[in-house]
Amino acid sequence: MEARRRNKLTIVGAGAVGSSLAYAALMRGVARNVVLYDVNGSKARAEALDLEHGSEFMPTARVEGSNDPEITRNSDVVVITAGAKQKPGESRMDLAASTVELMKKVIPPMVERSPEALFLMVTNPVDVTTYAALKISGLPRNQLFGSGTVLDSARLRVLVAQHCGVAIGNVHAYICGEHGDSEIPLWSSATIGGVPLLKWELQTGRLGESVRDDMADRVVNAAYEVIAGKGATNYGIGVSGTRIIEAMFNDEHRVLPVSSLLEGWHGISDVCMSVPTIVDRLGVGMTLEMPLQDGELGCMHDSAEVIRSTLRRIGF
Ligand code: LAC
Repeated sequence: MEARRRNKLTIVGAGAVGSSLAYAALMRGVARNVVLYDVNGSKARAEALDLEHGSEFMPTARVEGSNDPEITRNSDVVVITAGAKQKPGESRMDLAASTVELMKKVIPPMVERSPEALFLMVTNPVDVTTYAALKISGLPRNQLFGSGTVLDSARLRVLVAQHCGVAIGNVHAYICGEHGDSEIPLWSSATIGGVPLLKWELQTGRLGESVRDDMADRVVNAAYEVIAGKGATNYGIGVSGTRIIEAMFNDEHRVLPVSSLLEGWHGISDVCMSVPTIVDRLGVGMTLEMPLQDGELGCMHDSAEVIRSTLRRIGF
């Protein structure tokens, strides 16, 4: 797979999310060439220049910025962050119609210049933009997918770790479904240090239903809280998006709750939303059908319908 060896990462959109992704990718040494492409060329160049000034303190890499799409040619991974920002109180789905129209302009020139690249959608509403971008590009499901609920799951893991006094790395818990208001915590499959979380509750009495519900509510509303205070979220998506990119470049076969086109996951098909999925140098592969309990599957079907109804509303 010659293209992968060049290790070129293109980020489309040099706004807060795109530049944070570039910064995280450079700090973690994810790619040897990082390109920031934005129609606002001076912004893209300035972000790249600012990042380049820190080169001495980062793993070796080149970083460039431009509004010339040619700079993206032969990318190994292309991350799409271009799009409107949620305004305070605005839902991600409120952005759907205008954002998909933008994708119709953004996606084709990127695919034309890097037909072998893996495409990661970050632009919200990410499940909708992922499904639309698959249709617009004609790429197979493994080659184009979305960041999904990797960040949401990380937000939940922080809360559980802090509440239980354990390292985040010992908490395995997924938020799945829509990256948005209908997302679902899959408590029945969550574990702490390998112990089922619900058994931890029995042992410690510290993770009762009301505590879990409060945690879930804080995760669903996390972005609204940050946006109300600073106008946008960027660091969380920057590092969580970089984690996904690493799994591709390093061929990790990493299980991550990314948003891909489902083909019968617990009977759910023809929608893009997040379930635990293997991510490697070929993009997304097998989805994991963990056992579900207590209405979790019903909530996943409901979340799928939220996404499908938005897709129907905008003509997909
Ligand atoms: C958030 C954005 C990425 O959840 O949707 O912060």
